[in-house]
Amino acid sequence: MFRKDTYCRAFQFCFGMGAYLLPWRKPECISGPGCLGKIPELLEKCGASHPMIVASRRQSATEAFQTMVSRLPDYCLFSDVPPNPRVSTVEAIAALYRAEGCDSFIAIGGGSPMDAAKAAAARLVRPNRTVEQMGGLLKVRRRIPPFVAVPTTAGTGSETTVAAVVTDDATHHKYALGDLCLIPRYAVLDPELTVSLPASITAQTGMDALTHAIEAYVGRWLPTAETNRLAEEAVVTIFRYLPEACRCGENLAAREQMLKASYQAGYAFTRASVGNIHAIAHTLGGLYDVPHGLANAVLLPVVLEDYGEAIAPQMARLAELTGVCTQGSQEEKARAFVEAIYDMNRRLGIPDGFDCIRSEDIPRMVNWAEAEANPAYPVPVIYDKRRFARIIQRVQRSV
Ligand SMILES: [Fe+2]
Repeated sequence: MFRKDTYCRAFQFCFGMGAYLLPWRKPECISGPGCLGKIPELLEKCGASHPMIVASRRQSATEAFQTMVSRLPDYCLFSDVPPNPRVSTVEAIAALYRAEGCDSFIAIGGGSPMDAAKAAAARLVRPNRTVEQMGGLLKVRRRIPPFVAVPTTAGTGSETTVAAVVTDDATHHKYALGDLCLIPRYAVLDPELTVSLPASITAQTGMDALTHAIEAYVGRWLPTAETNRLAEEAVVTIFRYLPEACRCGENLAAREQMLKASYQAGYAFTRASVGNIHAIAHTLGGLYDVPHGLANAVLLPVVLEDYGEAIAPQMARLAELTGVCTQGSQEEKARAFVEAIYDMNRRLGIPDGFDCIRSEDIPRMVNWAEAEANPAYPVPVIYDKRRFARIIQRVQRSV
């Protein structure tokens, strides 16, 4: 175990140092109510005239969407993206893009349409590599077509990240392609698109953003002063505005703040990485189609509690910044912050476990989670198989 931990830390240290040399960039961000209408101008700026729009079915039926597309001279629509998009969906998007001679992407939706479109873009510029072969870090390394990302949930942060998460059709293994070239060129943050989101989805996706911010904040080697600042701001904003966005979906100010927090958390984690929570959450999404945000929401306080002392300084700082607990010892503040997350879950109607987890699946989940997390994720505590199993068992509920 000692040697394995040492190997993981050495890998993370080297990657962390190397990451400082990479040409990180952010998408150009356009935000505010009604800014969806600016997309035709953005495409014109890139010299694109025949975009492929990848959108969820729900979104492509909205009035805002219809108004925006009515201003496009020409476009091709793919609106059949399921949650936890499969590789077959990615292939279908890439095939339609080629057949229609498209020259750019507009991805509108939650994480699924944005991730599926990013993976399709990678497939288009690397026609000789399968999606699976591009899984992992920096395996695309080619400029993708102009890409406009429009989040309709405040959670995934995919509009600013290097990642495209996909699921294998046959094995249900969920994995990510991660490359700087997959960072969209434009992020369009229009709060009007999120006002109709049901409270349950608002809650789950908001907790995904919170998980991004916190996992980026507690990691080793990769966090920078900027990612720490953005993560702190995102956590404070989410604590302040997520309950309100769930209580009153039409509150545009709360919706706008949540989109901003999701974007900040997205940048923080794309630079500073996620961790064990995401590694386990992906197994729940791949095997049982558990919505990604819900999986993270349930796991977040459980794993933070399990990390214990290893992250006490960061948890205490977040307790102070959010106003959850400003007095007492570091340990007391840290415990209060984790308890506040449990409490937030309860108030948002998020369960404390999953009844879909079958005991016979746990060894496979453990293997997938461990392979995803180690050595790549610079987590505060390196989990071995036993510890992954223990966390999964803690959130397993019998039917
Ligand atoms: Fe996530």
